[in-house]
Amino acid sequence: MSDILRVPVGLGDRAYDVLVGPGALAAAGPELTRHFPRGRALLVTDRNVAGLHLETVSRQLAELGLRVDPIRVDAGEATKSWAGLEAVVNALLDHQVERSEAVIALGGGVIGDLTGFAAAVTKRGLDFIQIPTTLLAQVDSSVGGKTGINTRHGKNFAGVFHQPRLVIADRDLLTTLPERELRSGYAEIVKAALIGDAPMFDDLEAAGAGVLDGNRLDGAVAAAIAFKARIVAEDEREGGVRALLNLGHTFGHALEAEVPKDAIRHGEAVAVGMALAFAYSAHRGDCSSDDAARVTAHLRAVGLPARIRELNYATWKPARLVARMRDDKKNKDGRITLILARGIGQAFIDPAVDEADLLTFMETQLS
Ligand code: NAD
Ligand code: GLY
Repeated sequence: MSDILRVPVGLGDRAYDVLVGPGALAAAGPELTRHFPRGRALLVTDRNVAGLHLETVSRQLAELGLRVDPIRVDAGEATKSWAGLEAVVNALLDHQVERSEAVIALGGGVIGDLTGFAAAVTKRGLDFIQIPTTLLAQVDSSVGGKTGINTRHGKNFAGVFHQPRLVIADRDLLTTLPERELRSGYAEIVKAALIGDAPMFDDLEAAGAGVLDGNRLDGAVAAAIAFKARIVAEDEREGGVRALLNLGHTFGHALEAEVPKDAIRHGEAVAVGMALAFAYSAHRGDCSSDDAARVTAHLRAVGLPARIRELNYATWKPARLVARMRDDKKNKDGRITLILARGIGQAFIDPAVDEADLLTFMETQLS
């Protein structure tokens, strides 16, 4: 276990650890197996991940004394649905799951969110363990207990807070991840630094594109998780500071909503969204244009887009983007809430942005 980094998430009687690094799963031992008193592990995964990793993961779990009963669902956002939830809950019940048993989520954010929700409602609450297989899921969605599905009203509109008992962020599972997915997940690492950890940003900036390599990536993953863990421990249910984790997301969701499905990755939209949040903060005089320029330069150095025009879509309309931002579920009293910054590592929440000024800014971005 010596090379494995351990990040605690301090939530009292619901506290848990995140194990980070190559070989974390094989090294987990009794702290994993104690959640499976019947010697078998019900494991939810998508068909892509099953094809790539189920055999190896099942073998590693067998070496720890666990038999795996897999539940396979289709890959993709459409599975995070009422139908997907029903399928997983029924599959758990078909396997006669008992309340003493945990359920494993092996996959990206879709599988983690869906499995966590299914575990929370099956037999009034089962424990679950996250084994995230995308970088985004390792640094963001597997930690913090937000679970849920999409409804016809929007993304993540039904769900519950249900913390995992353990998260295993094993870098070996990322080896099959396409480069674009890896970079997209990296946006959520930069996000942590930009919100509240300026020295971390200095390190990422110094590493440049090399930050996505091996051991450096483990350190960055652990730092981002530790940052998120601190925020979650302070504000588990997003009454206040947890909203900071949405840096770049209000802009990003508006961009995602405007493009054909799957045209851009979530992390690409968030990258542009973070650059916009800093550029808009500079436009308002909240932060220096030097800091905004550093953000843009680093995103580009790692191969992420930093300007709206760098996203693969032609017909951006500033007023439509602002209208999309008005629909964001974080808004209150009809005013747009944005996460802005006074500098790198100094994000803050503005709960009532001046919409006319925001529109002017978006027009300049697209002129
Ligand atoms: P995803 O789960 O759809 O995975 C992306 C694709 O990569 C899928 O096709 C998947 O099959 C494939 N894949 C997964 N692991 C792989 C691997 N190791 N090798 C090759 N392919 C692999 O998407 P995602 O980006 O991981 O997560 C996005 C979801 O996470 C969204 O639904 C979003 O709402 C949610 N999310 C939740 C939180 C939270 O706090 N709960 C935070 C951020 C995002
Ligand atoms: N991904 C945002 C949060 O967990 O709050």
